[in-house]
Amino acid sequence: MEAFVPTSVDLENESHVWLAWPDQIDDPATLDAFRTLLSEAETARMARFRFDVHRKLHLVSHALVRTALSNYADLQPGEWSFIEEKFGRPEIAPACKTPALRFNLSHTEGLSAVVVTKNRDCGVDVEGVNRVKNLAGIAERVFTEAEQADLFARSGDDQRGRFADYWTLKEAYMKARGLGFQLPPQTFGVEIEAGTGGSATLKLATDFKDDAAGWQLSLQSIPTFASTSLANDFRLAVAVRAAEPASHQVVVRNAFTN
Ligand SMILES: CC(C)(COP(=O)(O)OP(=O)(O)OC[C@H]1O[C@@H](n2cnc3c(N)ncnc32)[C@H](O)[C@@H]1OP(=O)(O)O)[C@@H](O)C(=O)NCCC(=O)NCCS
Repeated sequence: MEAFVPTSVDLENESHVWLAWPDQIDDPATLDAFRTLLSEAETARMARFRFDVHRKLHLVSHALVRTALSNYADLQPGEWSFIEEKFGRPEIAPACKTPALRFNLSHTEGLSAVVVTKNRDCGVDVEGVNRVKNLAGIAERVFTEAEQADLFARSGDDQRGRFADYWTLKEAYMKARGLGFQLPPQTFGVEIEAGTGGSATLKLATDFKDDAAGWQLSLQSIPTFASTSLANDFRLAVAVRAAEPASHQVVVRNAFTN
């Protein structure tokens, strides 16, 4: 398994999302190599997961963060260190001397994603489309009226897909703000412009403390690695603070190739 194809490191006009499918990585030597990258704290956290699938998801996700970041700085994947912000958001530690570099990680059974930006707040969220069971009950609590109206006008797979669209877009923004669920998802809206695969805009009330025009929200459908019996596919949503969203591009790449 190769780690990372050669890449442009231009983070001025682009944000990069790196993806890894844990089920695709089963070579023991690769997994051992990943283990050597983790810090003591990351290793200790990994050991606390009860199930293999979650230990592996943690391992691949944190190896992915480290390997992805090393594309943009003169540090080896094992050399990165991190601090935690107020609501648990990890940031690169000042000791790494890469103050402009920012990242955010998301993982769900079957997929890990990390977004890397330069001097931009960023958030990413991935979710399996068929994972949520009580879709209507959740939507009534966390979606705005407009989002619910759009969702409940649909049915079946279309509705499940749209639920995942809204869920991941909202969470990507909440994570980009560093707040996670401290920012109640029903207090702001998103409007999806051109279906999955497109972009979205934030809908903020006048007393909401942020400027919707300063954000680029994008959405993609990501296929499941063939041999898993998990969700049919995933949604990937990314929120990046970009004063000129039209000229900023979100580029998605596979991190590890066979
Ligand atoms: C951030 C949050 C939405 C993530 O939910 P999740 O379902 O685990 O979603 P994801 O897989 O997309 O993201 C997990 C990753 O987000 C990152 N993260 C954690 N807290 C974050 C935050 N406040 N903002 C942005 N990213 C955060 C971490 O890298 C985490 O991965 P790790 O636990 O393996 O290190 C949720 O944990 C949350 O709301 N946290 C803040 C709430 C809070 O008040 N926490 C108090 C404890 S300090």
